[in-house]
Amino acid sequence: MALVPYVENALPALSKLHNSSAQFRFANHNLSLAQDWKKLGVAAVVWDAAVVMCMYLELGKVELQRKKVIELGAGTGLVGIVAALMGAKVTITDRQPALDFLAANVKANLPPDSQESVVVSELTWGEGLDRYPPGGFDIVLGADIIYLEDTFVPLLRTLEHLCSSTTEVLLACKIRYKRDTDFLGMLGTSFAVEEVYYDKERDIYVYKALKLPPRGDL
Ligand SMILES: C[S@@+](CC[C@H](N)C(=O)[O-])C[C@H]1O[C@@H](n2cnc3c(N)ncnc32)[C@H](O)[C@@H]1O
Repeated sequence: MALVPYVENALPALSKLHNSSAQFRFANHNLSLAQDWKKLGVAAVVWDAAVVMCMYLELGKVELQRKKVIELGAGTGLVGIVAALMGAKVTITDRQPALDFLAANVKANLPPDSQESVVVSELTWGEGLDRYPPGGFDIVLGADIIYLEDTFVPLLRTLEHLCSSTTEVLLACKIRYKRDTDFLGMLGTSFAVEEVYYDKERDIYVYKALKLPPRGDL
């Protein structure tokens, strides 16, 4: 099922997805993210969840300086770019077909002295996880990545692989369907999940999740 109706200007609120770029100001930088809905669909437009995640990061509740961060399902890369501008070392990931577009946006929006803070690499949830260090990240970020039921099990397996007991997972979510809350229930079996932010205007929630100790340790 499509995430949103795949018809140009079907709803006025979605028409911004058809613009060739989207402009923002975060972390004291003007950012211009290229978009190409027709070529790459959901991976090549900036979703409201990414904007709200950046707003949340700017609140300063999460320490990003020198932290090892990985972004899942990054799309245009806005969230990872902002995390890098705020001092993090960021691995920005998505599926293979999205990577060239993503890498071009990263290159265009990071000043030369921040380019080395970012690596763009393929991560299709649940696949090739051995290429990423188990429990090797301080923070995992995901904006609008909970929407395809078929990906829920591999996405959860990915989070379990990437997280140690101290890794902070932040998920910015648009809750469109019941299945989206079903994923949060699944997540709750191995992570302690709490709502940390809600943007009323865009109807986006930010959840924080921390990996629970293995059952045997309880
Ligand atoms: C709705 S878009 C969100 C993009 C971006 N995070 C944002 O909020 O603007 C969902 C993203 O998840 C990625 N995605 C979907 N299924 C995936 C999978 N199985 N493995 C990795 N990424 C996936 C898509 O390529 C897309 O970039």
